[in-house]
Amino acid sequence: MSQTLRIAGGTLVTEREAIPRDLLIQDGRVQAQLPPNEFAAVDEILDARGRYVLPGLIDPHVHFNSPFMGTVTVHDYYTGSRAAAFGGVTCFIDFSTQVKGASLLENLAQKEEEATGRALIDWSMHGILLDADEHTVSEIPRLIEAGCPTFKCFTTYKAAGRMVDDYAILKLLKPIADNGGMLMVHCEDDALIEFYRTRELDAGHVAPIYHARSRPPIVENEAIRRLSILVAQIPTPTYVVHTSTKESVALVHAARERGLPFHSETCTHYLALTEEALTRPNGEMFICSPPLRSAEDVEALWRGLAENKIEVVSTDDAGVPTADRLRLGGGRFDRVPNGMPGIEPRLFLLYSLGVLPGRITMPQLVAQSSTNAARLFGPYPRKGNLEPGADADVVIFDPTPQWTMSAGTLHMNTDFCPFEGIPVTGRVETVFSRGEVIIRDGELVAPPGRGQRVRRALDSKQTL
Ligand code: URP
Ligand code: ZN
Ligand code: ZN
Repeated sequence: MSQTLRIAGGTLVTEREAIPRDLLIQDGRVQAQLPPNEFAAVDEILDARGRYVLPGLIDPHVHFNSPFMGTVTVHDYYTGSRAAAFGGVTCFIDFSTQVKGASLLENLAQKEEEATGRALIDWSMHGILLDADEHTVSEIPRLIEAGCPTFKCFTTYKAAGRMVDDYAILKLLKPIADNGGMLMVHCEDDALIEFYRTRELDAGHVAPIYHARSRPPIVENEAIRRLSILVAQIPTPTYVVHTSTKESVALVHAARERGLPFHSETCTHYLALTEEALTRPNGEMFICSPPLRSAEDVEALWRGLAENKIEVVSTDDAGVPTADRLRLGGGRFDRVPNGMPGIEPRLFLLYSLGVLPGRITMPQLVAQSSTNAARLFGPYPRKGNLEPGADADVVIFDPTPQWTMSAGTLHMNTDFCPFEGIPVTGRVETVFSRGEVIIRDGELVAPPGRGQRVRRALDSKQTL
């Protein structure tokens, strides 16, 4: 008989409530949730008094080992999954970018090789589609069959060879819908960006803040609005990644109200930072797309979370080596590789900036950082909840320690922390991944390579 562990005395948080419940774990799975005074014979008891007990966080948007704009992102499967574990993340979904002319299935196999022996926690993969050619379309059912049912495309980054046009999106919708997949879209209108970018450069405006000026909110809003019209032609589950504007919340919600299976996420950096960061002496470090926005947009995003109009908070972890930022940027906003690191701090920021000031509740934190992603992307009910039978991916979160966020207090593979100097409350004390302790008392105790690939299938009934 295998060992049984009781996590006792904590406050269990689900997507619905925060209640005093003990958790019984056996064979890597949750065996039961028990009222604190109910007896059960166990081998070991872990004292969680004064702590929150949460399902492991899921990050459905990270870019590990990803070549982009002349550089490669800072995290690989080891360094990224290690930082993730310190932040209470027990599953992440990375992207496998199509290489033109090559097989998407081969790309997926290559990513699997990258993860083997390195990933510390469970992981999965979305495909990135760069075209809607016959061959690409023909591979969609095979990828879905292989456990990769979600596909991202970009409406911008034309110069980097990533953009797909409206007709390509229309051609992708049917094979994705027919085979039980979901389309994810980076929504920014490339023509508008080109227009504003040229205008700023012609005026001699090269500083980082002009990254935001060259991608004003209309750039994102117009792309979301048009996407909703495209999706209305062939209703297909669609997920708008990294929304950042006030209007995006209303646009996605309105599409859903019209009956479209339209979903959205925002990211931690759009909740914690404003475009002011782009005016700092190291402003180029904050260049990401869509850009950081106004304080009014930040508040609207928090309201969108409070009203459950935005379903997921991801990180879009895509840190760029500092030297490459400076070298490739060469003093021009439009040449700086886009993206910021963020896989680790999401829980602390959501708790400190969201729950403590009353912008969201603890159950919403759990829903938006774990359960909703599990439902939308497929691993539910195995992940994203702590009902009996679920993987014992558990975070014990101490909500009292106060500390200041900085590159030195985090474990990401970078000397740059976008949230440097932000005072936060709460610490990840213990993390279980499939019942194994991977973080104990804030220390990493698990070897690389123990993470498993999660083969996903979307459940069309799991609507939110
Ligand atoms: O600036 C960003 N977001 N970089 C990562 C790639 C993407 O667009 O998601
Ligand atoms: Zn993107
Ligand atoms: Zn991204």
